Amino acid sequence: MTSESAIRESLPTGAVGRVQSVRMKGAVAILVVDAAGLTRPDAERLETEIRANVLRVDGVDDVRIALTAEKRERHIIAIGSGKGGVGKSTLTANLAVALAASGIRTGVVDADIYGPSQPTLLGTQDEKVVASADKVLTPTSSAFGVKTLSMGQLIEPGRAIAWRGPMVGGALTQLMEADWGDTEVLLVDLPPGTGDVQLTMLQKFRPSGAVVVSTPQDLALIDATRALDLFGQAKVPVLGLVENMAGYMCPHCGELSDPFGHGGAEAAAQALGHPFLGRIPLSIEIRLASDAGQPPAAQDTPQGEAFRAIAARIASVIRTVQAEGG
Ligand SMILES: Nc1ncnc2c1ncn2[C@@H]1O[C@H](COP(=O)(O)OP(=O)(O)OP(=O)(O)O)[C@@H](O)[C@H]1O
Ligand SMILES: [Mg+2]
Repeated sequence: MTSESAIRESLPTGAVGRVQSVRMKGAVAILVVDAAGLTRPDAERLETEIRANVLRVDGVDDVRIALTAEKRERHIIAIGSGKGGVGKSTLTANLAVALAASGIRTGVVDADIYGPSQPTLLGTQDEKVVASADKVLTPTSSAFGVKTLSMGQLIEPGRAIAWRGPMVGGALTQLMEADWGDTEVLLVDLPPGTGDVQLTMLQKFRPSGAVVVSTPQDLALIDATRALDLFGQAKVPVLGLVENMAGYMCPHCGELSDPFGHGGAEAAAQALGHPFLGRIPLSIEIRLASDAGQPPAAQDTPQGEAFRAIAARIASVIRTVQAEGG
């Protein structure tokens, strides 16, 4: 005990607030040092100084220093819906692109093991996923500044997957516990539905927030309520609801019409006491650009603007949490 406090006292001023833990193992001092925000040479200089000082402490024969570049907190945000095909994956990819463009280091985990779509949406199908010797995966990076990992990159495209539950859990763990480096926000594209897989995933990885996607129809909204219940059960705070395919945007004149009505999700959000994050129009351009691996959020169009507006709302929630030291 005394040597641990002596070590803390010996630390150079540059290490103040950065040393996360000090432990003695026999005569070896083991320190974990947060190097977030430091350049590599600065981090190395700090490490050398710490080592020199700690070696002078009585009873210390050797020093082991682990530098972590990890922020104290990474925000994991799950994107879910009660019903399939409402646009979770499209929203996830575009939120990620918009968040990255606003300077937030963003990653995407495609948790849809059976129907991965992120490689197509972000155009990373051809990128190989690399695992290190200790089986830790390194995410690929897309042209839009977003890191991604997806089962779609681990299996051959088009191959049917008939995995059993425990294997799915194992695969997901590998994706979540990959080398995400200094990623600040990790968006998780959940598979459709509100079953056990989703609940386990939420309980195991404890996202800091969730976004629920719905289309405007009443039936889809009932499903959205189910998704809200799922997040409630897992004690994951709901950041808000997004209405997708709200109003049809005519590819010729840009006029909005309302095949499914719109505003249902906003009213539902209000009734259920959750924030409404915005709506994305039903637009053929969104589908075409998405299929081509060109996320609309990277384009200067009304559709792109719709995604960016939602991303900005999410970013402001994240910043508030960060400012509160959460
Ligand atoms: N706003 C939109 N306008 C036009 N097409 C859209 C829009 N949002 C999504 N789509 C299209 O709808 C289809 C389903 O979208 P997506 O794959 O994102 O849904 P999902 O909820 O992730 O589906 P799943 O439940 O199967 O995972 C895709 O072909 C996508 O391009
Ligand atoms: Mg999907």
